[in-house]
Amino acid sequence: MGISWWSVACLWLALQRAPSASAASWAATPQTWPVPYRRFDHRPEPDPFCQPVYPFCPTGSRDGEIPQMKDRDIIEVYRLQTPVWEFKYGDLLGHFHIMHDAIGFRNTLTGNNYTMEWYELFQLGNCTFPHLRPGIEAPFWCNQGAACFFEGIDDSHWKENGSLVKVSEITGAIFNKLAQWVKEDNRTGIYYETWTVQSDPSPNATVWFKSYDCSAFVLRAYQTLFELGAVFKSPTQTNYTRIFLYSGEPSYLGNDTTIFGPHSNKTRGEEITYFYFPFRPPHSVKELILSLLEIVDKVVLEKTFYLYFNFEYWYLPMKQPYIKITYEEIPLPSKQNKSKVT
Ligand SMILES: *[C@@H]1O[C@H](CO)[C@@H](O)[C@H](O)[C@H]1NC(C)=O
Ligand SMILES: *[C@@H]1O[C@H](CO)[C@@H](O)[C@H](O)[C@H]1NC(C)=O
Ligand SMILES: *[C@@H]1O[C@H](CO)[C@@H](O)[C@H](O)[C@H]1NC(C)=O
Ligand SMILES: *[C@@H]1O[C@H](CO)[C@@H](O)[C@H](O)[C@H]1NC(C)=O
Ligand SMILES: *[C@@H]1O[C@H](CO)[C@@H](O)[C@H](O)[C@H]1NC(C)=O
Ligand SMILES: *[C@@H]1O[C@H](CO)[C@@H](O)[C@H](O)[C@H]1NC(C)=O
Ligand SMILES: *[C@@H]1O[C@H](CO)[C@@H](O)[C@H](O)[C@H]1NC(C)=O
Ligand SMILES: *[C@@H]1O[C@H](CO)[C@@H](O)[C@H](O)[C@H]1NC(C)=O
Ligand SMILES: *[C@@H]1O[C@H](CO)[C@@H](O)[C@H](O)[C@H]1NC(C)=O
Repeated sequence: MGISWWSVACLWLALQRAPSASAASWAATPQTWPVPYRRFDHRPEPDPFCQPVYPFCPTGSRDGEIPQMKDRDIIEVYRLQTPVWEFKYGDLLGHFHIMHDAIGFRNTLTGNNYTMEWYELFQLGNCTFPHLRPGIEAPFWCNQGAACFFEGIDDSHWKENGSLVKVSEITGAIFNKLAQWVKEDNRTGIYYETWTVQSDPSPNATVWFKSYDCSAFVLRAYQTLFELGAVFKSPTQTNYTRIFLYSGEPSYLGNDTTIFGPHSNKTRGEEITYFYFPFRPPHSVKELILSLLEIVDKVVLEKTFYLYFNFEYWYLPMKQPYIKITYEEIPLPSKQNKSKVT
């Protein structure tokens, strides 16, 4: 069976949620999978067309400053997780675990606590689907994501139907090194990627592309802490939400210049634009329903998805079960469990 109407509808709702270069060259070297997420040397100013509904990181300091701890301070580390908005207040909680992840820190000497998270600058819908703008041929993406660090942990926000669980205790010296890592990670990792794409749902599947989202950030941060000497322990399972696409081996198509530029093959560009047409942020219920029909049609019937990754397009020959949202365990880093995160 293909994906049901219901799951597509839910996926759609998930994608509408509020707050919360590449390998593929002309070179003859064989493609490595998963395609590495491209790092940049700086973060560009977002285009003024991209306007957030909710301001990014409203209570963080302007330049993301992270306070220096004394080397010998003892800092508790918390795993923070909460359902994203629609799933918390709608009746969808329980159908899917669509969760947002973050990390909390508490300095046991000063009593001050802090939240660190990574999320979309312009909401998830904009990171997942582009805007088709009149007069601009290439689909237009408002897909930046970034780290936000602010003082305080809103306990009730995380506890209700989520988790606020102590997972480690580190020194101030380790915390300060993590702070440096976050700065660098935030400077070089600039865009959000919703989808994890792999060959099938089995544990042995070939992973074509990895998501780059709030939970990927938390997993990278845990791994960094682990490498700096942190020891992790959780009383509960550490599960994360991932949104999967299943496809055969992807093929590289090109970037905005090669696909949509003056010397490009117009057919390919038109196919991509046509594919993304129904995914535009909907203006009415009617438009939403038409969009959903188109999504089912394209992904399931045409077995096609055009993935945008590293600011380049890939063709995915989609196959069953097409799309899946999972909430599965990824253990905390430990000596037994060697790095699963890259
Ligand atoms: C997406 O981007 C558009 C254009 O900048 C903006 O109006 C909108 O608020 C953003 N958010 C969503 C969820 O579409
Ligand atoms: C990450 O980058 C964003 C966008 O430039 C910025 O607002 C934020 O403060 C930075 N976060 C950290 C922790 O440096
Ligand atoms: C938390 O989950 C319970 C059980 O599913 C539900 O009854 C309750 O409304 C949820 N709380 C919120 C704030 O959604
Ligand atoms: C964080 O600090 C706030 C304000 O003092 C307090 O209400 C909250 O319980 C603290 N949370 C944790 C996990 O330390
Ligand atoms: C995964 O690979 C192992 C070893 O190659 C094999 O024994 C196992 O049957 C495979 N599992 C699946 C679900 O394909
Ligand atoms: C697109 O790809 C071409 C060929 O690989 C490259 O020369 C060009 O700089 C790229 N353009 C952008 C905007 O990345
Ligand atoms: C242009 O792209 C289309 C669709 O990808 C393809 O069928 C066609 O052969 C291409 N034409 C040329 C001249 O490369
Ligand atoms: C967490 O993941 C494990 C295995 O990945 C699964 O067995 C378990 O049911 C998941 N927990 C929840 C609450 O879904
Ligand atoms: C290591 O990972 C496996 C599954 O991936 C899990 O069952 C096991 O409990 C983990 N061990 C530790 C010490 O976390």
